[in-house]
Amino acid sequence: MISENIKNILNEQINKEFYSAYLYLAMSAFFDKMGLYGFANWTKVQAREEVDHGMIIFDYMIDRNTPVQLKQIDIPDTDFQNPLQVFEKVLDHEKYVTSSIDSIAKLSLDECDLATLNFINWYLKEQIEEEKNTTDIITKLKLFGDEEASLYLINEELQKREYKKHEYS
Ligand code: FEO
Repeated sequence: MISENIKNILNEQINKEFYSAYLYLAMSAFFDKMGLYGFANWTKVQAREEVDHGMIIFDYMIDRNTPVQLKQIDIPDTDFQNPLQVFEKVLDHEKYVTSSIDSIAKLSLDECDLATLNFINWYLKEQIEEEKNTTDIITKLKLFGDEEASLYLINEELQKREYKKHEYS
């Protein structure tokens, strides 16, 4: 049986994952308008992964016979200026999501909800990857991004990212 506190924090996390999808979609539209189609592709693929993250929690709650309460999704931040500034926002956002996932793990531990602790472990690993991927792109943009030829090459690399449904394992 999932406690009221765990139920609430999981419902909030579903909302945060869907907000993340909105945020990445807004970024994708910004890059598309700039003609940076590789950056647009990368952020659009990420948006789809965020929907998967939300759906995995949704399915977990259903499996645990816990009420899902879908909350209003905020309008995403659209104060975008250039690729580096956008990816710095991505990193800030992912750090925020990581702290949220950490809170779920801590609460699960405090409440001795070992099933939820085991479940959320996948997200802890996922956040390491999300922060690393973003940091790698920021590093490249800081090293080379001011030069058009380099930006073109990074754009080509980001174009290669393909969506694969994120499965919980
Ligand atoms: Fe689902 Fe990017 O965290």
